[in-house]
Amino acid sequence: MREDARDAAGRVDEQRLWQRHAEMAQIGAIPGNGVNRAALSQEDIAARKLLLSWAARRTFTVSVDGIGNLFVRRAGTDANAAPVMTGSHMDSQPRGGRFDGIYGVLAGLEALEAMHEAGVTTRRPVEVVAWTNEEGGRFAPCTMGSMVFTGARPLADVLDITDNEGIRLRDALADTLAATPHAARRDFRSPAAGYIEAHIEQGPLLENARKTIGVVTGIQGLRWFNIEVFGKTDHAGTTPLALRKDAMRDAIAIINALAELTHDTQDITRFTVGRMLVTPNSPNSVASHVLFSVDIRHPNPQTIARLGDAVAPLARKAAKFCGLKVTPTLRDDPCVFNVPVTDAIEDAAQTLGLPHLRLPSGASHDAMYMARMCPTAMIFVPCEKGISHNEAENAAPADLAAGARVLTAALIELANR
Ligand code: GLV
Ligand code: MN
Ligand code: MN
Repeated sequence: MREDARDAAGRVDEQRLWQRHAEMAQIGAIPGNGVNRAALSQEDIAARKLLLSWAARRTFTVSVDGIGNLFVRRAGTDANAAPVMTGSHMDSQPRGGRFDGIYGVLAGLEALEAMHEAGVTTRRPVEVVAWTNEEGGRFAPCTMGSMVFTGARPLADVLDITDNEGIRLRDALADTLAATPHAARRDFRSPAAGYIEAHIEQGPLLENARKTIGVVTGIQGLRWFNIEVFGKTDHAGTTPLALRKDAMRDAIAIINALAELTHDTQDITRFTVGRMLVTPNSPNSVASHVLFSVDIRHPNPQTIARLGDAVAPLARKAAKFCGLKVTPTLRDDPCVFNVPVTDAIEDAAQTLGLPHLRLPSGASHDAMYMARMCPTAMIFVPCEKGISHNEAENAAPADLAAGARVLTAALIELANR
């Protein structure tokens, strides 16, 4: 490891990093120690302002792109060199924890602080990005900011997506952009020389193996759908079952059929229906309309393709009474991270004397899209009992700092290539 990388890694301040998590966790705090910081909400805006207030204490510069991805840059010596990037997201699940996403942003900022304090110069700029709407809990799909930044989906395609209250993304986005008026405007697909994302593992492997650093090798494939069932509302007490077009009954039949499709004795396939909107949503009215989400994941490209392609035909077969609309909302093939970047992470962990493990990611991350644009990999740190997307999510300050040290050293390495 370069001497300056070791110096800078040593400047990572565990206390400052932990304190910043605590401050961020106050924005959108919910009972049970969790946070609810939906993308493009007032809480998201407050988190952005807090991040920028920390950046403003240094000579870092700030830019924002058309979907609100926020970039904090520490200059390199070569003004024309593409930056090495790091980061994650500041939005959360509706009942999310204090670490999912925000850790990657704060660890990135900590890396910049540590480089600054160590007086390290890098050839390339190093940038922290806070991606917009990684969670997709308010505006589906997830990983939207990186998807649009990397050109996988045009901005115009997502602007009319609405949340459960009918608020359009374009309006929430306009409010968010207006809240950071001093940030320079950044183009989509602006070049990047590499990307490393730090994140809590969100699973139990590191904790069980007593390892501090996960060197992430890739991310499993993912298919998302919205399934809408169109029936007719009727009186629950008087309408004979034979005369009903009960959207809920068909929705249940479809969900059961999909559960059977995805049943896996090895427990590798993931199948989730996490969102359901029922109209009119009254105990004594037959449902006229049900919308539910489908999330299926698998690490094997053929398997995830087969399962995803089977969803619409199977749903049509299972629905007995009602009309149906199946809308694919996300298709991410499994991704394999860049070997030189995973090696740089592993070398950094090794040199810093941190126990490490190579592992794949079960969760999706913005790194999946960045991997299409530049050499990319991720660093995981343990989280308590592997719990995530839950208020009880927890991580140890020392592990968070260890991940930030590895990140700092790997970024300096890449920023001088
Ligand atoms: C991201 O939170 C995911 O759904 O994996
Ligand atoms: Mn996340
Ligand atoms: Mn998440």
